[in-house]
Amino acid sequence: MPAKFSNVIAISPLYSLLILASLTLIAFTFLTYTSSLSPPATSPSSKVVERGESDDSTYSQIYHYPEVFKLNYEAMERDFKVYIYPDGDPNTFYQTPRKITGKYASEGYFFQNIRESRFYTKDPEEAHMFFIPISCHKMRGKGTSYENMTVIVRDYLQSLIEKYPYWNRTLGADHFFVTCHDVGARATEGNPYLVKNSIRVVCSPSYNVSFIPHKDVALPQVLQPFALPTGGNDIENRTTLGFWAGHRNSKIRVILARVWENDTELDIHNNRISRATGHLVYQNKFYRTKFCVCPGGSQVNSARITDSIHYGCVPVILSDHYDLPFNDILNWRKFAVILRERDVYQLKDILKAIPDTEFVALHNNLVKIQKHFQWNTPPIRHDAFHMVMYELWLRRHVIRY
Ligand SMILES: *[C@@H]1O[C@H](CO)[C@@H](O)[C@H](O)[C@H]1NC(C)=O
Ligand SMILES: *[C@@H]1O[C@H](CO)[C@@H](O)[C@H](O)[C@H]1NC(C)=O
Ligand SMILES: *[C@@H]1O[C@H](CO)[C@@H](O)[C@H](O)[C@H]1NC(C)=O
Ligand SMILES: *[C@@H]1O[C@H](CO)[C@@H](O)[C@H](O)[C@H]1NC(C)=O
Ligand SMILES: *[C@@H]1O[C@H](CO)[C@@H](O)[C@H](O)[C@H]1NC(C)=O
Repeated sequence: MPAKFSNVIAISPLYSLLILASLTLIAFTFLTYTSSLSPPATSPSSKVVERGESDDSTYSQIYHYPEVFKLNYEAMERDFKVYIYPDGDPNTFYQTPRKITGKYASEGYFFQNIRESRFYTKDPEEAHMFFIPISCHKMRGKGTSYENMTVIVRDYLQSLIEKYPYWNRTLGADHFFVTCHDVGARATEGNPYLVKNSIRVVCSPSYNVSFIPHKDVALPQVLQPFALPTGGNDIENRTTLGFWAGHRNSKIRVILARVWENDTELDIHNNRISRATGHLVYQNKFYRTKFCVCPGGSQVNSARITDSIHYGCVPVILSDHYDLPFNDILNWRKFAVILRERDVYQLKDILKAIPDTEFVALHNNLVKIQKHFQWNTPPIRHDAFHMVMYELWLRRHVIRY
């Protein structure tokens, strides 16, 4: 490739510039295309891809552009600075670190991690981005109605706009907020400025609602702490083809249970596994299964995806219009099976058609990306917090007015 280039340059610098420009455009278009693709159909045959590559290339398989990621990540670590608005009553909902367990733990981890991290600056002049520390989940816990939350959020934002010059410079394009519970997304939807301009970091990133993929950021929903250690390199124990158990609180879950509940190869339940069944029965099933089915619930997302990743069970994404977390960095097809909801009827055939070598490759890749879906306090390199920060870094703006 470099040899080819120098040749062209020798012939005509202008021509080579044109080629370079069009190549860049193609690469960019491709990047945009892959990151904005709604879950495309996966047929069993299209799953059988480039196997037999050496182990060296498996690292690069996981990332769309490993070199870009590496260099840009280092630049982020070195340079990225975020200012957190200090206003708001710490005894109510703004500044207090959130609890970091439960279904919405990702939100609490972010609030805590950002203050523990090297990215936090108290000097707004050196900041690339501005964090609006609203926690609607916390307000919800206090029984605040959606209407009132919308008003509280709007008044808070208004006070920041009036007090500081930063919002007006970009009309909020370099501002972000983080919410895992969908109440946050709902409450902030009443504020057109927030929806349109600022970056929304949310756990329920559906193309089908107001999520804007190139602007907003998908936050992985992670239910921490995990009950059992990470799985991996344990394929001999994975004898069950597919597994799912949970509440049937969405159409796709109802269909999944109805179609497969009595199947002898797919272990599909029509309800949650009760604790009375035994100690950690649910979690242990993730260790013994090849493919863990992850249908959306009330929203596209589910903590089951990160459970599957943690326990080394290849996630089967069964949720349409889901902008998967870190989709523009990680190649999900290298460690997950991505289906359309209508594929549920062929679920068994699709999973059985995946060759063992393909499954082993998916599983091995899965182990390599576990670190990206894990929160820590304090945060550590390449963990979920840093991946979210990297997504924000990609969205920073250099021009201010
Ligand atoms: C909403 O706000 C109004 C006015 O401040 C208050 O009277 C009411 O109790 C609040 N309701 C809820 C559910 O928060
Ligand atoms: C930002 O612009 C708004 C609307 O024009 C204005 O009301 C507000 O005072 C401005 N903020 C500052 C700090 O000047
Ligand atoms: C999403 O798209 C489907 C199909 O177009 C539509 O029926 C549904 O109302 C949309 N909205 C949500 C929130 O699912
Ligand atoms: C397989 O399962 C057995 C029984 O639970 C366990 O003792 C063993 O460590 C597992 N093997 C691997 C590689 O995890
Ligand atoms: C599965 O088995 C149960 C118990 O025999 C039965 O009630 C149910 O209708 C069966 N479901 C399907 C989809 O066949």
